Amino acid sequence: MFLRNCWYVAGWSHHFPEGGLVARTILGDPIVFYRKGDGGIVALEDRCCHRHAPLSRGRIEGDDLRCMYHGLKFSASGKCIEIPQQDIIPSTAVVRSYPVVEQDCWVWIWMGDPARADDAVIPRALNHNDPDWFMLTGELTYEANYELINDNLLDLSHLSYVHQSTLGRNSMSWGESRPRTTAIDRGVRIERWVVNHPRPYYLKLPAGSLSDMWASYDYVVPGVFLLATKSYPLGAAAQSSMRAPRAEPDWVSSTSQAVTPISEDKTVYFYSSCLSRRLASEEHAREQMAVIERAFSEDRAMIEAQQQIIASTRQSRMLQLASDGALNRFRRLMAGLIAAEQETNPTLSVEAAHAVA
Ligand code: FES
Ligand SMILES: [Fe+2]
Repeated sequence: MFLRNCWYVAGWSHHFPEGGLVARTILGDPIVFYRKGDGGIVALEDRCCHRHAPLSRGRIEGDDLRCMYHGLKFSASGKCIEIPQQDIIPSTAVVRSYPVVEQDCWVWIWMGDPARADDAVIPRALNHNDPDWFMLTGELTYEANYELINDNLLDLSHLSYVHQSTLGRNSMSWGESRPRTTAIDRGVRIERWVVNHPRPYYLKLPAGSLSDMWASYDYVVPGVFLLATKSYPLGAAAQSSMRAPRAEPDWVSSTSQAVTPISEDKTVYFYSSCLSRRLASEEHAREQMAVIERAFSEDRAMIEAQQQIIASTRQSRMLQLASDGALNRFRRLMAGLIAAEQETNPTLSVEAAHAVA
């Protein structure tokens, strides 16, 4: 089950080059993307209304798209504007068009009722395209349901286990930290001090160089993770009485990540790694991304294995722990939004607003 009335990340801006047709499946819908002459991105149902050929095998003509099976031409709004074999164009000659916004190097697509699309609710990514920060980007596809990935990101105690030698830095500091979770608009905020945390290996500091790290992130609907970390000399956590620090950190990093379902059992995941140019070098930025990419393959191996166990064994209740507080809260939030959407417009989740087009 998916939340439809919501913005999803369809990809990085650089995935959508001028003159290119890009096919993506999002929430089970086949979608074709292309850029208009002014650079604006169009997203249309990737299924011609004639014989259901994919429009991604078509041809861009100005701001329009021609199906290269029998030649129907569609405007950026999805309306058919030319049928080479006849003069009359029926009003049903239309494919669905989706609202799209390009913001913070991400291409966001609204998957529900276009009349309800509101750009103002798109979360702002951290430090994307900021000249004062290094920014590296990546993408990963999981053979798993999106909820398992949300769960993973909502409980970072796994860093000390799944990522023991990568993000966990061979320390129990993440695993033993106690986060504070609060509700925010359309999401949760999770904050914690990670005390006695080893400094990144690539800083080449003497062995045993530790810091106190403040890690704070917002996790917002439908699965957008916005994490900033700030490191301080040891003792900073106690000096702040385990509250948010006010002092200038000696190391900062951020990452923004987005979980986008392809189908019920396949998900794509987009992520950035950002380091402040004031404190870090380009080499540090590359090394940090290398660690993140190793860590994300560890996540993928664990989550895909978890998905297989869940799919192949009888359903039973999962044990609830204190550390599941944030993920349970987010699951309830999503379930409530999906239920409310189903109540008001049950057709949205099925043949998604083909009717809307
Ligand atoms: S399938 Fe597209 S024109 Fe026939
Ligand atoms: Fe992870």
